[in-house]
Amino acid sequence: MHFETKAVHAGGELDEKTGAVSPPIYLSTTFERNKSDGQPSHGYSYIRDHNPTQTRLESALAEIDAGEAALVFASGMAAASALFQTLPSGSHVLIPDDGYYAVRTLGADFFPRWGLTHDLIEMTDAGRVRKAMRPNTRAIWCETPSNPLLKVIDIAAMASIAREAKALLIVDGTFATPALQRPIELGADIVMHSTTKYLGGHSDVQGGSLAFRRRDALFDQVLEVRTIVGGVASPFNSWLILRGIRSLGARMRVHCENGRAVAEFLSKHRGIEKVNYPGLPSHPAHAIAKRQMSDFGGMMSVHVKGGREGALAVAAKTKIFTRATSLGGVESLIEHRASSEGPGSRTAPDLLRLSIGLEHPQDLIEDLAQALE
Ligand SMILES: Cc1ncc(COP(=O)(O)O)c(C=O)c1O
Repeated sequence: MHFETKAVHAGGELDEKTGAVSPPIYLSTTFERNKSDGQPSHGYSYIRDHNPTQTRLESALAEIDAGEAALVFASGMAAASALFQTLPSGSHVLIPDDGYYAVRTLGADFFPRWGLTHDLIEMTDAGRVRKAMRPNTRAIWCETPSNPLLKVIDIAAMASIAREAKALLIVDGTFATPALQRPIELGADIVMHSTTKYLGGHSDVQGGSLAFRRRDALFDQVLEVRTIVGGVASPFNSWLILRGIRSLGARMRVHCENGRAVAEFLSKHRGIEKVNYPGLPSHPAHAIAKRQMSDFGGMMSVHVKGGREGALAVAAKTKIFTRATSLGGVESLIEHRASSEGPGSRTAPDLLRLSIGLEHPQDLIEDLAQALE
C-alpha cells in the first residue's frame, strides 16, 4: 500500500457503536474496572497510562513509520527526554553538532544529573562517528535533515556503526516526516518526531512521538518513564495530530514543490551567500538525500549577505512570510535562528531559517524578492 493511503486510513477504524467515520475523542481521565477481579474492563485504567484516542494515534504512527509500535508524548522534547531517561547511568551518547538546540541542552545540562555523558559529533562524516564510539556508547542520536543547517546524515551508515557496537540508532525525522523518509526501513531502531510540526501541520497542536522497530523491553521501559514522569499526549492533541496525518502525504507534496521553487530562486539571488537545501545539487549530501528521502521537504536555511543586520532586515520586510519560530504548518515562516535560540546559540548570525508553506510559490518568491531588494 502506498504511503498516502496508509496515512489516510491508519488508526481510522469506524467507531463500533455509532459508525462515525471521524474518530471520537475520549476525554475521560479514568475507566471502569470490573466487579470480579478489579481489573480494567476494557483495557484502559487512567489517562496518564493510556487513552483510546492516543491508542489510535499510536497505531497510525507505528504504521506510517514502519515500526512495530509507537508512543506519543506531550511534545517532541518530552519524547526525547523519556528515551534518554531509560539509558543506564554511565551510558555515553553521540549527538550531532548541528541539530535541535534543546537536545544539545539536554546533553549539556541534564545528562550529568542523569549520569550520562555525550559528545557532539559532525555526523556527515561516518569515520568520525566510528572513531567517537566508546565501549559505553549506548546510543547514536541523529537528526536528518538537521535543524537549522539542513545537514543530511547517512542513516544506513549510522545504523551499521550502531549495530556493530550494540548501540541504538535513534533518528529525529521531524523535518522529513515519514512521508519522505522512514529511518526504520533504513536500519534505525527508533524514529522520533516533533509532531508539533508537519504531522500536526497547522501550527495549532504540540506533540512528540517515538516509533520503535520492535515492541521490546526498551519500548516497555520508555512506556514506564512516560507513565511515571507523565509527559503523555492529551486526547485532544492526539486527535488533532491524527487528523493532521490524514493529509500529510498531500501536504508534503506541495511543501516539497514550493521548497524546490523557493530554494532555486534564492540560490541565484545576489543578496544570498548560501542556501542550505538538500534538494539542490550543490548540497554536499544531495546524493545521500536522494537515496534516503523520496523528496526534499519544505525546510531550508540561507546565509544572507550583510551579516546579522542583513538577515534581520530581510526577515523584517517579508509580508507573506511571518517572522516566527517553529515550522511545518500551512503558512510560511521566516526566522532569525540565532535570536530564537538565544544565548549559547551556535547558529551563524547571518542565518535565516525558512519553513515553506502551502501558499502559491510565485507569491512566496515575490515576497522574498521584495524583502531582499
Ligand atoms: C528537529 C526538531 N526536533 C525536536 C524538536 C522539539 O519538539 P517540540 O518543540 O515539539 O518539543 C524540534 C522543535 O522545533 C525540532 O525542530
